[in-house]
Amino acid sequence: MSSISDSDRRSNTRLDFVKVELEYQGERYKVLNISSNGILIYCQGGVPDHLANMGRTEKFEFVLVDPERGSRMDFEGTLIRCMGEEGRRPDRAAITFIPITVKKKSVSELVTVAVAGGKGGVGKSIFSVNLSCILAKLGKEVALIDADFGSADCHTLLGITRLPKDIRDYFRQPESKRDLRSELIETKFSHLKLISGGNNKIDRPSIYSNSLVDQIDKLGADFCIVDLGAGVEDHSLTLYHHAQIKVIVLTPQFTSLQNAYSFVKSAVYRALRSSDKIKDILLKVDGNFAKLYQVVRELPDSDSLKVEFYNILKGYKFKIIGNMVNTPKELGFINILIKLVKEYLDVECSILGVLESDKDIDQSVNKLTPFTELYPTSVNSQKMGTIAQNLIS
Ligand SMILES: Nc1ncnc2c1ncn2[C@@H]1O[C@H](COP(=O)(O)OP(=O)(O)O)[C@@H](O)[C@H]1O
Ligand SMILES: [Mg+2]
Repeated sequence: MSSISDSDRRSNTRLDFVKVELEYQGERYKVLNISSNGILIYCQGGVPDHLANMGRTEKFEFVLVDPERGSRMDFEGTLIRCMGEEGRRPDRAAITFIPITVKKKSVSELVTVAVAGGKGGVGKSIFSVNLSCILAKLGKEVALIDADFGSADCHTLLGITRLPKDIRDYFRQPESKRDLRSELIETKFSHLKLISGGNNKIDRPSIYSNSLVDQIDKLGADFCIVDLGAGVEDHSLTLYHHAQIKVIVLTPQFTSLQNAYSFVKSAVYRALRSSDKIKDILLKVDGNFAKLYQVVRELPDSDSLKVEFYNILKGYKFKIIGNMVNTPKELGFINILIKLVKEYLDVECSILGVLESDKDIDQSVNKLTPFTELYPTSVNSQKMGTIAQNLIS
């Protein structure tokens, strides 16, 4: 049977390595030995060809399974060598192994939530950080991307005072070598990892936003929360465009409403511009957004351009977080955005949740701890819990 040193035991408390089996491509193999050098497995009937013929630097993924406890752990490794009796097909394989801390998920399982608002100081980061914490607490693997490049603060809100790395390291790499996974920072909350936007200026981040979008799918998270900076910069709109859940954080203030509407309008414009047909019309109306709507609305309903236009709009549903809302009158103010967006842009908005203005939230910032951690039973924490549950179901 397998053997394992005490230090190995201490560092791997979630699996009983004495009884562990290795699962690779749907097959289970007996583990003969595990040491810091690697794993030795026994393959009845011989080492499968796809494993035996693997290049020595080629990485592959496998799972170590503890059948008794039902626990599983993902690993990545390379083949060291195959062994067996002379003249016979090798039936043992030695493999290197490193744990995959964020399990890979298929794209369809990943939910990306982008948090925008147009205006600074409305609570985008507070919301993003606390949502991430709650989802992680519910057992979801969460990657929080602080996309407020150069002015990032999610790390501070999570209690990280010194950043070991930030997104600039990623942007510095040549396109072919970029791997967003290597920018993930551990936080003190299990299941939650952060990619920080850094506190130093990043030149022209917009040219990199597409590569960022492609890499989000590879992070292997259940949820990727993208906290966007203020304004309507191109890279923010690109990240927002590709998120399944498009959140707008709004406070009951006229300037917040103005900025939120302006962001929504830019996001819709960005979406419509992705269609070549609509781009042509936009050129004809000199990029005048109101005129574009006028032209399209006057087309017969069966017109293919009108159909495409409204199909794009149907795919855009904004979810509003009303923040610092304490009275019905203030809630009414939040509803104005819904009416404006419907009336002028023909796009649906709905309220995802409402948070009250609370000194505890304000204080949680200086305590460098998310308010849902500090005050888990408070009204706002309960509201955050409901929001997270709604996103999961
Ligand atoms: N619901 C709330 N109650 C009290 N203060 C809040 C609330 N939401 C946000 N704040 C305060 O607003 C500040 C700005 O929030 P932040 O999330 O950093 O805004 P943004 O990311 O939109 O720029 C926070 O530091 C906090 O003091
Ligand atoms: Mg912020």
